[in-house]
Order: sequence, then structure tokens, then C-alpha cells
Amino acid sequence: MVTTDPSLRSATRRRIILFPTPFQGHINPMLQLANILHTHGFQITIIHAKFNAPNPSNHPHFSFKPINDGFAEIADQLATNQDASYVLKYLNKSCVDPFRDCLAGLLAEPGQDPVACLITDAAFYFAQAVADELKLPRMALRTSNLGCVLAYDVLPFNSKPACFYLTKQDTDYEASVPEFPLLKFKDIVKITTNPQGMGEFVTNMLTQMRASSGIIWNTFKELEEPDLETITQVFPVPSFTLGPFHEYFPATSSSLIEQDRTILSWLDKQAPKSVVYVSFGSVARITESEFQEVAHGLSNIGFPFLWVVRPGTVAGSEWLESLPENFVEGMGERGRIVKWSPQQEVLAHPATGCFWTHNGWNSTLESICEGVPMICSPCFVDQPINARYASDVWKIGVFLEDGFERTGIEMAIKRVMMDKEGEEIRERISCLKEKISKQYYMNFLMIQRKEVMERQETNGFS
Ligand code: UDX
Repeated sequence: MVTTDPSLRSATRRRIILFPTPFQGHINPMLQLANILHTHGFQITIIHAKFNAPNPSNHPHFSFKPINDGFAEIADQLATNQDASYVLKYLNKSCVDPFRDCLAGLLAEPGQDPVACLITDAAFYFAQAVADELKLPRMALRTSNLGCVLAYDVLPFNSKPACFYLTKQDTDYEASVPEFPLLKFKDIVKITTNPQGMGEFVTNMLTQMRASSGIIWNTFKELEEPDLETITQVFPVPSFTLGPFHEYFPATSSSLIEQDRTILSWLDKQAPKSVVYVSFGSVARITESEFQEVAHGLSNIGFPFLWVVRPGTVAGSEWLESLPENFVEGMGERGRIVKWSPQQEVLAHPATGCFWTHNGWNSTLESICEGVPMICSPCFVDQPINARYASDVWKIGVFLEDGFERTGIEMAIKRVMMDKEGEEIRERISCLKEKISKQYYMNFLMIQRKEVMERQETNGFS
């Protein structure tokens, strides 16, 4: 973590106002970015929805302004509706007036330092019009990788919605999508259950990213160099690849669910690189039969495992009711199931051998930063795109392409944990880890140098 002393900064500190979308995978990178900016001397105000509100006491150096998001009206649908575009489009309408009032109030506060800019999640596309109206520059934070946005830009959500409903029986199911050949049709059917709704959301988001004063990406140049060139052509506004943010500030302080830290002492007892860590993130859901296949897969392999089962992961279940009979007794000391883990610490632990993940972008980056090979089981939205990049472009994971089925699961775990292929994957991901560590070290030195210079200025040296 970067440890610089912001109190050393000069008296007038420009303010930045940030506005995350209210989901774990979006709150984490926004608050990490806020911490990075604070380290560079900015005052931070976070406007946030009341739904999934961050805990202000974990960030005493920021000020927090909650707004009424109207989310209660649709909250009961979250347990059943996996159409992300529906929720996001709803929030882009329900937040307009409360957000505008809150922002206008902040700008009118007497005696405050000037506001440098507004940074909102790119998914809050409505904020561009509000920022324009209040004559405030808006930057968009896109919490995914570059490749995802390039794919979203060309996928035929509106022109060929039928592509998103193909099934195994269709001849094109295994074929490449002409608009974005890295992806197969079987990948894009996972992205959304409502292509037209998704198309409308994507068009709005990308249009307002193009209208913004700049885009901040939680990714790094060495990972996506070829796509960075394309992005600057497709989005003719300044692009900043400042990630991975969590290298500077961990996600622990913005966790919405309590992390079970007891597993760290269990991990201490396991052999190096022996544990299969399994987590499907904060919003993805699987069916009861998929859940049971995961359980059988884990019980059939000989490796120790740590499995995060977030309450609500299994559609229609509270928590573990759908486990096969005697599963918990059978796993004994070899396995642990928790509701939520300190994921970054788990991935950094020497006992962790591989990460079976849904490929949310934060999880993917966290795995790369710790050099942990992945087994990729994407569920929806950007995850199938991230998984394809991880397995086919960066070659740092094995794609469990055909869903959850115990024999396929066992084979994938074996490929990563025991085969030569797994060793090669580990080498490639370790190389990426190395590149990030070097970049982090250089940035850290730059911050230290800046701080020393400011200290000298404060003390009257030139
Ligand atoms: C959502 C979308 O599903 C994803 O596709 C998009 O890229 C971001 O938003 P989410 O399910 O939240 O993703 O996954 P991810 O992006 O991986 O973020 C999850 C965060 O929760 C990570 O920072 C991870 O460290 C943290 N986490 C996860 C925990 O702290 N404990 C856990 O047990 C699991």
C-alpha cells in the first residue's frame, strides 16, 4: 500500500467528486481510485446510492453524500432477474434528480475548495448531461478491461438479437462471431438474456464515454497494448490506464460483506500451491444442479479446496441446502466453505494453487497480480469476454467452456494443477505479475519523490 502523508500538501486542495454504481465489483475500484487521488493531494467526496452503501467509517478521509436511488422499488427483482441492463437502465433514470440536486448543492457550498472534476462509473451514463448542465468536466471510470468495451462496441445486440439465443443444437454455436472473432457464439449467449435491452444500455454508455472529458481504465498497458491503440481511435478522448488499482489499495475496506478471516489459518496448514480457490463473485448465480456438479467435482479431486458460497449464489436457496448428502462430513479438513473471503489475501497466500473464477474483472486482475492460474467459468455480462481473453489471448487460464459438469471440472483442475500445460500457464501469469510489480515500484518511487519535493517546498527549500 502507498503510504504518503496527504497533510503535507499545500493549503488549497482541489476537490474531486466520485460516483460509483452500487455493486461490489464497481465500488471497489472506484474507492481504490479515490484513495489514489487522495494520495496525490485531492479532497474526495463520494456521492453514492443508498443501496449497497459503502461504510464511511472505513474511509474517514473522504466525505460521503448518500442520495435516494429509488432502488427499493425493484430490489425484490434482484434475486430472480439476471438482466443487468434492466437494473442499470433503471438506476440511470431513478438517480437523475437526486444526483443533480446533490451535485449542485456541493458546487454551491460556500468556502469550499474548487472542484476539479466529476468521476462517475461509465455505467452511469446519465451523469454526462448533468455534468454538462452544471459546467463540470466529467471523466468516466470503466471498471472492465479494454477488450470488453471494444467487443461491446461491435456486437450485434440490436441488429442480430437472435445470435444471443443460440443453443448447442445450432450449427453456429461453436463458430466465431464475425463482428469480434475472438468470441464464439457460445460466449455471447452468456452475456445477456435481453440483447436489445443490453444494446440500449451499451449504446448509451459508449456514447457518453465518447462525450466525456476522458476515460480512466482499471487495467495496465502491458496487458492490453494492442487494444490500447484501438481504444484511442475508437474513443477520441484521453484514455488513462491507471490499474490495477488494488495494487495500491486493497479491496478489504470497501467490502460490503464481512470477510471470513478464519480461513487464513487453515490456508497456513496447507502445502504450497495445493489449494483450489473457488469463487463466483458478488452477483453471479448458478442453478442447483450446477452447484451440485461443482460440489461433486471438488469432492472427486484430491486437492484441498476453499469454496466461497455467497448466500444467494444458488437460485432458490438460502445457502448450502443444495449440497449433496454428506458432502460437508466427507470433505473434513480437506475443504472449507465460507460466505465471503478476504480474496486478495487468499490469492496472495503461498498455499493457493489455482483460482476457479467467474472472471469478474476485479477477480481476474487480482489473480494476475498474484500470479495464480485460473479456471474460467464466466456467468454473464463482461465475464465471458474476460474469460476468452484469459484463456485464448493471455493464455493464463483454462476455460471450462461447456458449463458445470463434474468430469469436465475434474479434468480442468487436473490440467491446471498437475499437467505441463498448468506449468506453462503459471509461467506466463508469473511474467505478468512481474511486469505489474515493476510498474508499481516505479509509481511508488515517483510518489515518494514528489512528496520529498513538496516537503522541501513546505520547509522553504527550492
Ligand atoms: C461484477 C460483474 O459481474 C463483473 O463482470 C464486472 O467485471 C464487475 O462487477 P463481481 O461479481 O462483483 O463483478 O466480481 P469482481 O469484478 O471480480 O469483483 C468482486 C470483488 O469482490 C473483488 O474485488 C474481490 O476481491 C471481492 N471478493 C470476492 C471478496 O472480497 N471476497 C470474496 O469472497 C469474493
